[in-house]
Order: sequence, then structure tokens, then C-alpha cells
Amino acid sequence: MLSILNKMKNSRRYFIKIAGMAGLSLASANALYAEYQEQEKEFKDLPGRIDKYQKKHKQRFNMSGYAAPKISTVRIGIIGTGNRGSHHAGTISRVSDVEIKAAADVLPERFGRIKKNLNSTDHNPEYYSGSDEAWKELCERKDLDLILITTPTYMHAKMAVYAMEQGKHVITEVPAAVRIEECWEIVKTSERTKKHCMMMENYTFMPFHMTTLNMAKQGFFGEIVHGDGAYNTSKMGNNFNKNMYWNMWWLRMYGSRNGNIYPTHGMGPIAQMMNINRGDRFDFVVSVESKDFMMQNKAKKLAKDDPFFEEFAKMDYRGNMSSMLIKTKEGRTLNIQHDATSPSPHNLIHGVYGTKGSVLYDPAPPKICTGNHRWADKNTYDQLMGKFKPGLLHKFEDFRKGLGANLQSGHGGSDLINVWHIIDCLRTGLPLDQDVYDAAAFSAVVELSEWSVRNNSNSIKVPDFTAGAWKTNKSNMDINLDNGDGDTKILS
Ligand SMILES: NC(=O)c1ccc[n+]([C@@H]2O[C@H](COP(=O)([O-])OP(=O)(O)OC[C@H]3O[C@@H](n4cnc5c(N)ncnc54)[C@H](O)[C@@H]3O)[C@@H](O)[C@H]2O)c1
Repeated sequence: MLSILNKMKNSRRYFIKIAGMAGLSLASANALYAEYQEQEKEFKDLPGRIDKYQKKHKQRFNMSGYAAPKISTVRIGIIGTGNRGSHHAGTISRVSDVEIKAAADVLPERFGRIKKNLNSTDHNPEYYSGSDEAWKELCERKDLDLILITTPTYMHAKMAVYAMEQGKHVITEVPAAVRIEECWEIVKTSERTKKHCMMMENYTFMPFHMTTLNMAKQGFFGEIVHGDGAYNTSKMGNNFNKNMYWNMWWLRMYGSRNGNIYPTHGMGPIAQMMNINRGDRFDFVVSVESKDFMMQNKAKKLAKDDPFFEEFAKMDYRGNMSSMLIKTKEGRTLNIQHDATSPSPHNLIHGVYGTKGSVLYDPAPPKICTGNHRWADKNTYDQLMGKFKPGLLHKFEDFRKGLGANLQSGHGGSDLINVWHIIDCLRTGLPLDQDVYDAAAFSAVVELSEWSVRNNSNSIKVPDFTAGAWKTNKSNMDINLDNGDGDTKILS
């Protein structure tokens, strides 16, 4: 880290960023936001910076397939106890052999919901608040194995780097980072510390997505050629709700950024079907977006009656529809959308097209084509879903039967499956389903798509965070439990 600082000593802005990552001095939460906004001015150097980083990067240790030493009881600290952090706490409490020992939030009033979710469980975390830096104290505890990061997106990487430096594994919400340098930092830190840094791309664990991933792994669709994915779902109510998100952070993001600021739910599951970072990798990105037809109008309307919204009425919002095309090294294409404004139905698309067949998740009902130019009838569909049901889903079927409960959880059940498998792999000493290279590549497109939008939709290279290891890295997402499994249980 010091050598980077020496080389970069002429760049004050860079110093602030790296210093924040290393914990040499920590910018406040609002300063983190301000610093992120400052990045706009650096955009014109982005292709050059990508080349420079790529040339000087050597893989120190390959984290793909890495299995850390077993941990009998996984002791967890949570940073950010807002909507998602509180929800995760409730989900984690349904898994055996874990202990939520600590939770941090800049706003102590945010502890109400996590306390409610942990009420009548065995978990009794110590709470950290009172400063923007309280989360660091949590990371420094000696009795934690794993840090879960559920703060606003532009804080994830700094917190992840600091947590790994403190000897903790990290699981982070999506995206894991919002800037290219942050992507490199999580990769370098994970390789140096041999700590996992997994981005919890939970939609990949939805039953349909896992089953069709299993089909793809077994060659049912032939060569995957193209995927259409999206996270198109209106957040207009949430984003303009004064009590929903910390410091209106999502609205501020829409009011200041361009490009796909939330790419992973549409892209991650398709990237897994394409074996990205293990046999193929993202090559370049182009992005285009519509005008904003809705957000500023809404902010202006609200500002007429409520001065709180005056600052938001002046913002120049990201276009309502963000579209991003990605070409892979092996010639595949992805078309990823993000629209958080349209009053249309929730739509993930998840259309994946291969040389022998295809799938289409949205609009419902989900469909499979066996290569005969038609969507399969219900009988054939049901047979295929049964035949290719992966081991992880069978495992959950056993849990369900054992408990006599339906085991519902957020996002089509994916949240509980994702969390259970992380805990079981850590306890059993197995590789996690997604590695730091996935976290970096799937998050890098945030900045790359913004650069493209602001540069007439020109294309921009995606860094190779694996430093060439993508050619030989083995398959991940152990949805069939081929690596084995442990005795971690679901409690309720
Ligand atoms: N995977 C999914 O399905 C999914 C769903 C929702 C949200 N998310 C992700 O979860 C993350 C959190 O989203 P959310 O909806 O919970 O937002 P939120 O605003 O409800 O929660 C963020 C929390 O971080 C806290 N925070 C801010 N600065 C902090 C600091 N310096 N130290 C400690 N805590 C701090 C805030 O007080 C707040 O409680 C985001 O990254 C989002 O993208 C993922």
C-alpha cells in the first residue's frame, strides 16, 4: 500500500481515496459521498488508468477456488443495519452455527429493526454507533470471522478492504465497488490477505436461475451466445420516501451519476451461465441511456409543497432507461438494462440464448426452449425443472421436509440459500460460490457504463482482474454440492 501511495503522491484526490481504504485516515460518510461525486472530473483518464493498472498488476495468489481454513462457528459483524442489513440479520438467524456478535450503523435509530428481527433468537450483538468511523472498531474486534457489508454502494469497497486488512472474510451487498480502482483494491487485498471477498449476487440463487444454470453447466443449451438481463422495477416510491434510505442516498445517486448503477441482478446470473472469469471474460462495454422523463419532474412537484425536495429539484437525473452491451473475449454478448422509474411490471428478463436452446424468465411464466423454435409445454417444462434441479435445491427440499415449514425468504428464496451456503462453505472449509474476481468484474461495469454514456457511447475495456487466470480457472457456483457439504442446518 505504501508503494502505491509513493507513486501517487502527486495526486491529492487519489491519496484521500487510498488513505481511506487503508484506514490511514477515514473520510466521513458524507465525505465518502462527496469524494465519489468528485470522480466525474477524472473520467477522461479512465481508459489510460485501466491500461496502466492492467500492465502493472500481477496476480499474487489465485483466489478462484480458494478454500479458507474451517471455522466451526462463524462469528459475524454487520456494517449497515438499514433495510438490507436488518433483513440479512433475520435470515442469518435462521442458520445454525453462526453468531451475530456485532452490528454498526452511523444512525443508532437504525438499530430498532435489526433488534426486532433478532428478538427471540440467540443473537445478542454489541452495537457500534456514534461516529461515521464506528464500523472500524467493529472490524478490529478479534472475535469475528466474517463481516457483512450492507451500507450504500459507494462505501462497500473501502469497508471490505479495511475488514480484510483486519483478518476478516467479507461478504458484501451489490455492487461490491463503484470505481475501477476500488475493484483492483478488493482483488489485491483479497489475494494478499487470503480472505474471501464475496459479493452476494443473490438473484443467481433463485430456483429458476439455479436450475437453468445447472442445465447450462451440463451443456443443455449448447454454447451460450447471448443474454438479455435487467433490473427493471420502479423504485420511485422508495427513492422519494424521506424515511426509506439513509440520507436519500439512492436519489442522490440518480441525481448525479449516469450509466448502470445497479447492474448485478440482471448481469450476474447470465455471467455465471457464460462462465465469466473461468473460460471467458468480459472484454468491453458500451452504454447508452434515455433522458430522464420522470425523476426531476417528480422532485420539482414535491418541492412546491416541501422545501426538503428543493435540492433534489435542481439535480440532473440519470436517464430512466440505462442500456449496456458487453462483449466477451470468446465472442458472447450481454444486453443489460436498468430502469427504476417506469410503472411497468417488475422485469428481470433473463433471456439466455444458446446454440441448442434458450430460457426466458420474465415476463412470467418462465420458459425453456429445447431448440425447436417453440417454448416447451408445461409438461416438458416441469420435467426439465425436475431433472435438472440442482443439489442445493434438493438440500433445501430436505430441510423443508425436516422442518415441515415452507422456508420462504427474500427474493424467491434466494437470500436464505445464498446465506446458508456461505456459512456451510466457511464451516466446512470449501470455496465460496462467487469469488473476488466476480465481485470486481460484475461491479466494474458501474463506472465503465457511466464513462461510455458520457463519451458518446464509446466502448471501454473491462479490466482482467484475474490477470489471465480466467483461461484456466475452474467452474464455481457449486450448485450441485460437488465439493461436498457440512452439517449446517436451517433452524426455522
Ligand atoms: N441484493 C439485494 O437483493 C439487495 C436488496 C436491497 C438492497 N441491496 C443493497 O444493500 C445495500 C444497502 O441498501 P439498503 O436498502 O439497506 O439501504 P439503507 O439506506 O436502508 O441502509 C444503509 C445503512 O447504512 C448506514 N450507514 C451509512 N453510512 C454508514 C457508516 N459510515 N457506517 C455505518 N453505517 C452507515 C445507514 O445509516 C443505513 O442504515 C446497498 O448496497 C444496496 O444496493 C441489495
